Amino acid sequence: TVCRNNSTETKQPEKTKYGPLHDDDRIFQNLFGRHDYRLKGAMKRGVWYKTKEIVDKGTDWILKEIVTSGLRGRGGAGFPSGMKWGFMNKPSDGRPKYLVVNADESEPGTCKDREIMRHDPHTLLEGCLVAGRAMGARAAYIYIRGEFYNEASQLNVAVKEAYDAGLIGKNACGTGYDFDIYVHRGAGAYICGEETALIESLEGKQGKPRLKPPFPADVGVFGCPTTVANVETVAVAPTICRRGGEWFAGFGRERNRGTKLFNISGQVNNPCTVEEEMSIPLRELIERHAGGVIGGWDNLVAVIPGGSSTPLIPKKVCDDVLMDFDDLVKVQSALGTAAITVMNKDADVVRCIARLMHFYKHESCGQCTPCREGTGWMNVMTHRFVEGNGQPEEIDMLWEISKQIEGHTICALGDGAAWPVQGLIRHFRPEIEARMAQFNQKKLKA
Ligand code: NAI
Ligand code: SF4
Repeated sequence: TVCRNNSTETKQPEKTKYGPLHDDDRIFQNLFGRHDYRLKGAMKRGVWYKTKEIVDKGTDWILKEIVTSGLRGRGGAGFPSGMKWGFMNKPSDGRPKYLVVNADESEPGTCKDREIMRHDPHTLLEGCLVAGRAMGARAAYIYIRGEFYNEASQLNVAVKEAYDAGLIGKNACGTGYDFDIYVHRGAGAYICGEETALIESLEGKQGKPRLKPPFPADVGVFGCPTTVANVETVAVAPTICRRGGEWFAGFGRERNRGTKLFNISGQVNNPCTVEEEMSIPLRELIERHAGGVIGGWDNLVAVIPGGSSTPLIPKKVCDDVLMDFDDLVKVQSALGTAAITVMNKDADVVRCIARLMHFYKHESCGQCTPCREGTGWMNVMTHRFVEGNGQPEEIDMLWEISKQIEGHTICALGDGAAWPVQGLIRHFRPEIEARMAQFNQKKLKA
C-alpha cells in the first residue's frame, strides 16, 4: 500500500542533508490517487488508526505533541500551529468553539490541498477530529473552493462514510466526544481564502475581510471562538500524534520542521505535487521530482517559490536556496504555499507578472483604497511595460505604488499584489529598461 512518488528521473541528484523522504515517512500515502480514496482503502493505509486513543488523551496532550512537532501553518503564513490552536484553550462564556478548515485554495500555482481532498479525504476528516479535540471545538466547517466540485463530492462521500462508521458525530470514535463536520462550498472568489472574508462568507454575507484584531480565536464564525486552519495543516495532525511530535520535528531544521507538500509547475519536464522534507534545496526538488527545467538548469531564468504572492527569485539565487521559511526570507521572498512556478528562457517574465497583476486587480474586494486603486495602476503599468511602453522613471513610480499598498491595507491581498511587482523590479529592472529603450527608439523613428 506504499505510494511512490512520481519521479521520472533515472539519474538521481546527489543526496543532500535534506531529503529525499523515505516512502514510509510520507504522511499522504495516496497523493497520486493510485489507491482507493474511500474508507476501506484509507483504513488500509493507516488512516483512522488508534484515533480513539488520541482523542481520549485530550486537549493538553494533543497540543503538546503539536508544539513539539514544530508544525507551522501550511496555508502560507507559517504561524506556529501549537500556539494558534492553544489560543482556543480558554473560557468561551458558554459559546461553542469551531474549527474552520480553509479549503478555499486559490493561490495561482497552488494545488496541494486539492490533491489531499481528492485522493485522501479521510486523512483530512481524521485531522478535523484530532485538531478539533485539541481546540475543544464542537464542529468543523470545511470551506471548499467553489470550483472544486469533484473534491467537494469526494469529501461528502467520505463524511457520510465517517458518520455511518461512528467515527464522527455523536460519541465520535466511541470517545464520548461529539463532533460534527460540515462541507460548505464557496462561490469562486479568491478573497474568500482570507480567513475573515471566509468567515463572513460562511455566515452568508459578502466575503469581505474584517479588521484584525479581534482575531478569530476571540470572535470568529457566528461570533464564537474559531480557528481557521489550512487543509494540509489539519491533515498532518493525526500522524504527528500517532508517530509523535519528535518524529515530525526530526525532518527539516530549526524553525522549519516536518514534511511538506510542494507543487512544481511551469517550464519543467514533469509538473507534479510531491511530499518532501522541509528545507530541501529548490534545485534538488525540481530535478528529483519534476524532471528538471525544460532545456536544463542553465536555461532557468526565475522561480516564483511559494505561490503568486511571493516575489520571484532569479536563477543565481535558485542555485543554492533551501525551500523553507527562513532561507526564502533571506533572499527577499517567502515559502508561502510552497507552490513553485518555474520560468525558463522561453518565458516572458514581465508578461507573467503583468498577468498576475490582472488577477489581483480582478480579485481585490475593493474595501481599501490602496488595494482597490493600486492593483488597477499596477495592472495598467506592468502591461505597458511588457511592450516597453513607458519611461525609465516610471519604474520607480511603480515601485512607489507597490510600497504605498504594502502594509496599508486590511488584509494580505494588498501585500500579495505588491510583492511580485517588487520582485520583478528588484531583479529585472535592466530587462524592463531595455524594452523601453527599444520601444522609444522605434517611436522616434516612426
Ligand atoms: P497572518 O500572519 O495574518 O495570520 C496567520 C494566522 O495566525 C491567522 O490564522 C491568524 O488569525 C493567526 N494569528 C496571528 N496573530 C495572532 C494573534 N496575535 N492572536 C491570535 N491569532 C493570531 O496571515 P494570513 O493573512 O492568515 O495569511 C497570509 C498568507 O496566506 C500569505 O502569506 C499567503 O502566502 C497565503 N495565501 C494562501 C493562499 C492559498 O490559496 N493557500 C491564497 C492567498 C494567500
Ligand atoms: Fe479588500 Fe484588498 Fe483591502 Fe484586502 S487589501 S480588504 S482585498 S481591498
